[in-house]
Amino acid sequence: MKNVFAITGLSLALLTGCGQHFVAQQSTVEEGTVKKNTDSSKISPGKIWLDDNGEVINAHGGGVIFQQGKYYWFGEKRGRFASEGVNVYSSSDLYNWKLEAMALSQDKNDTLSDIARGCVMERPKVLYNEKTKKFVLWFHLELRGKGYSAARAAVAVSDNVTGPYKYISSFRPNGNMSRDMTLYKDDNGDAYIIYSSRENYDLRIAKLTDDFLSVTTADTMLFSNHREAPAIFKYNNIYHLITSGCTGWKSNKATLHTATNLFGPWTESKINPMSGPQADITFDGQSTFVLPVAGKKDQFIFLADKWNPGNLKDSRYLWLPIQFKNETPVVEWMDEWRLGWFENNLKKGNNN
Ligand code: GAL
Repeated sequence: MKNVFAITGLSLALLTGCGQHFVAQQSTVEEGTVKKNTDSSKISPGKIWLDDNGEVINAHGGGVIFQQGKYYWFGEKRGRFASEGVNVYSSSDLYNWKLEAMALSQDKNDTLSDIARGCVMERPKVLYNEKTKKFVLWFHLELRGKGYSAARAAVAVSDNVTGPYKYISSFRPNGNMSRDMTLYKDDNGDAYIIYSSRENYDLRIAKLTDDFLSVTTADTMLFSNHREAPAIFKYNNIYHLITSGCTGWKSNKATLHTATNLFGPWTESKINPMSGPQADITFDGQSTFVLPVAGKKDQFIFLADKWNPGNLKDSRYLWLPIQFKNETPVVEWMDEWRLGWFENNLKKGNNN
């Protein structure tokens, strides 16, 4: 990510005047202009992340898929408060990101549309369906002017990964409320939605239909302890599910549940999966996704949002490597890191 901005002298004064958000790292200054850093080969959780155009990346509550050599990061496009649609960025190295498109926009003409301007689109996730050869986008939808009462899952589809996605429908899976959600495609190609239901008290899973456009009736409760922000991955044939508590934009403590079957039973780990400063409030963030590094066994990146409820657009991204200590995942805080961390860790004799 071209998130690393660097400044000296004149420009430092200039930037600090603009706001406390800019973070000084290595770069050059020419006549008061800030040159973008070309050495952007690191991930700096919580800092401002810029795309290759120098714009702040706007992709919150997101998810990432890997497709033909590239990562595609889908996330909520936010204004100060407003939900503005779903952005998609691409990268071949997870450091440098290009804004590809607004994958799904709100409907500016039809006020009766489910996705009429003013609706809320959250936590977008995309899967590729091998059978239909289509990309399927799911997200949490709240209807315009109705607060968070609609509690629906919504689906859109595209022939191309970057869209534009065509909106299909929204519904409550098998009649259940559906707020925070994620998608998961298992090794055999079957896909699932994991969603917070019954006013977020229940976390549920439903298997998707073969075309991924709807849910089947294979739908069950995973656990009922008021969890949201699900992020799932499989390691050592065990499903690992990280969730947050339900405190709105305010951060809280993450938990880890594991299971050998997606439909349960799920066991809650006694150990906080986060470690380091502010581990008890998930580094002041909230889980959104776990990204398997393409082509690498047992390399996973934990993705979280550090929400800024006073200016949602300025919410930051917390991406950290998942370590395995005695086969248990641990996300340890790092101010910055590179993908080479995984190999170095292996050399040190650790699990990954
Ligand atoms: C959080 C949720 C976010 C958003 C927010 C609204 O609990 O994880 O995705 O819905 O509440 O307050």
